[in-house]
Amino acid sequence: MSEQKLMKLVEQRLSAKRAHHVICVWEQALKMAARFGEDPKKTGTAALLHDITKEVPLDEQLKMLQKFGIINDNVILKSPSLYHAITGALYAERELGITDADILAAVRYHTTARAGMSRLEQIIYLADAVSADRTYKQVEKFRRLAMEDLDLCMLEMLKHSIRYLVKDECLLPADTLQAYNQYCEMDHQKGR
Ligand SMILES: [Fe+2]
Ligand SMILES: [Fe+2]
Repeated sequence: MSEQKLMKLVEQRLSAKRAHHVICVWEQALKMAARFGEDPKKTGTAALLHDITKEVPLDEQLKMLQKFGIINDNVILKSPSLYHAITGALYAERELGITDADILAAVRYHTTARAGMSRLEQIIYLADAVSADRTYKQVEKFRRLAMEDLDLCMLEMLKHSIRYLVKDECLLPADTLQAYNQYCEMDHQKGR
């Protein structure tokens, strides 16, 4: 699918505010792709699609998850904010006919992360967190790190979001913990 068509789809399916966010993520992701040698076409597609089902009503998304038998994870089931990552990947695959597993995984894991992420998955996860429309306190630090060291930025971002989830007594998805453990071990091995 051409970038132009994807942009149109973003405009059709999302509010102006969220479409703006998606464009900011797209710009950030392309900068990171150029920096780390990732394919710009794949990166652009994943970035433009990452929130494509975010405004589909939650009950509809839940139906989609049940239809495809994905909802066997109690934590995901109880975390509606995570639905759109899974339904987004489903939409990309079933409705748009995208077959590239790396693009689908980048959409699928952009909210939780997971162990063994590809470079593209890391770029989309981090671009979503440090895009120009984000304004949280430490965003500048993360934005810098996102252009320097993907693994270290993943570790710092996971620490940041896990802290935040625990503070709010949110459930922690297993994928997030497994990602954290992996980047933590990697960091220990590097002896930082
Ligand atoms: Fe999202
Ligand atoms: Fe997003």
